[in-house]
Amino acid sequence: MDKRLKSVHAAADHIASRLNRLPTVGLILGSGLGVLADEIEEPITLPYETIPSFPLSTVEGHAGELVCGDLEGCDVVILRGRFHYYEGYSMDEVVFPVRVMKALGVETMVVTNAAGGVNTAFSPGDLMLISDHIKFFTDSPLRGPNIVDFGPRFNDMSDAYTKQLRELARGVASDLGMELREGVYAHMPGPSFETPAEIRMLRTLGADAVGMSTVPEVIAAAHAGMRVLGISAISNMAAGILDQPLSHDEVMETGKQVRDRFVSLVRGVLARL
Ligand code: HPA
Repeated sequence: MDKRLKSVHAAADHIASRLNRLPTVGLILGSGLGVLADEIEEPITLPYETIPSFPLSTVEGHAGELVCGDLEGCDVVILRGRFHYYEGYSMDEVVFPVRVMKALGVETMVVTNAAGGVNTAFSPGDLMLISDHIKFFTDSPLRGPNIVDFGPRFNDMSDAYTKQLRELARGVASDLGMELREGVYAHMPGPSFETPAEIRMLRTLGADAVGMSTVPEVIAAAHAGMRVLGISAISNMAAGILDQPLSHDEVMETGKQVRDRFVSLVRGVLARL
């Protein structure tokens, strides 16, 4: 058996042995959004270091644990603290948790992040449904020999951000009287924030938001045939839009401001799955 497949199964078997019910919905929580995992009653929490082959999280603001349990009637597994390419992980490591979730039986992924607003009509604190993405400058997590157990060699990306889930999320937001933006997320490698010239380029090419995560995981999820809902919390306006410096502190601070709306939106979506 391929080494990568073996380690995915070793991790999934370990997690499954700790659970009474296997998850069907996976959530990946971005910077400042980990609070959603606290909403699970009687959670089963597995720190990454206790799971065979699991990478360890290093970035500030990320806890580094899997939290499993019931949320709005769904059996969920939450990844609190994701793996970013800029931390030095290989793409295989970045998408490892997605493959483990798939091996556990997860069919629906909710992927969230903090992102810079590229669209000048946006404001910090907005929530944006991801309709599509643009990937720049990094390898695909699918580069190299394909493992058919993970998915096909050439996979379709035309509905990677599942239309039906976006419609559902729009309905939830509307019922909550919540404004929900929608747009294209551009993936940049980081860890530097972009330059103003790069942000002008991204806008010209059709991006509405920019960030350093999510896209590799969504590619792996689409490869595995999972349904995906992507949500960005606009934590700051991207470089060069406002006359002020960008900082990770601002990203985390805005995360706190959107927390309640973010939690209501995701809970509402889960309740309707
Ligand atoms: N750029 C890239 N990633 C980000 C940003 C940004 O402005 N804000 C939060 N994550």
